[in-house]
Amino acid sequence: MVANWKSTKLPLNDLLDMIFEIKKAIRKYKGELIICPPFPYLEYVRQEIGKNRICLGAQNVASKDNGRQTGEVTAPILTEVGVSHCIVGHSERNEGREEVTEKVIQLVQHRVHPIICVGEKGQGNSDIKDADALREIQEELIFVIKEVSPKDITRCIIAYEPKWAIGGSAEAVIESDLLHQRVLFIRKLLKERYGRSIAFNVPILYGGSVKAENISKLESIGVTNGYLVGSASVDEEFLRIISEVSSTKKITKG
Ligand code: PGA
Repeated sequence: MVANWKSTKLPLNDLLDMIFEIKKAIRKYKGELIICPPFPYLEYVRQEIGKNRICLGAQNVASKDNGRQTGEVTAPILTEVGVSHCIVGHSERNEGREEVTEKVIQLVQHRVHPIICVGEKGQGNSDIKDADALREIQEELIFVIKEVSPKDITRCIIAYEPKWAIGGSAEAVIESDLLHQRVLFIRKLLKERYGRSIAFNVPILYGGSVKAENISKLESIGVTNGYLVGSASVDEEFLRIISEVSSTKKITKG
């Protein structure tokens, strides 16, 4: 599970208190939890996490590493401050595919796990027969992973995030049949590129309006390996999400 704190308006102290609560909440949680705070909070969050099994993630990285990019944060800098994961290609950043690919390469070269966001613009939940949406996902994913070796892809996480579902209320979440179709489609693309056994070692997450209200429904679909949670990840709602995920006996299909 990934907590994307985006450019949260909450004060740093509240966020650090939140980590204290998260540490208690994950006692029964068997999975991996990655917290992605804004850059200036990384070190504070790292210290607060301490020796706990929570991973530190960043929300972005520079696409190049030439030592002359004012205001950029490169992959070696992330490694230096203890970052193990990094979100790339989030739709809120509106980046081109070349740039996203360069970022993924930078990250794997410096042993940071990329969390690669892909997802169609789409029209919302009505478009299960929308071949354009599948084509969009395919073009985006294939473009980014074509430079990624079989060894490196197993260091990556794919976050399927339909752009239309991001930043909405609980009702804006994807419908079950659509999520099922899209995740199996992404898994098929990975199988075609890397073969079955490698493809099944790449976690596929869902992101887009994941909330305490809809998490049990998402869990019952059983097709993803986890979630990328945005606005519901900075407060007490996230603790309820962790608790729900911890209590579900999970069989991932597909
Ligand atoms: P959201 O954001 O949960 O607020 O929709 C998801 C994301 O960060 O992509």
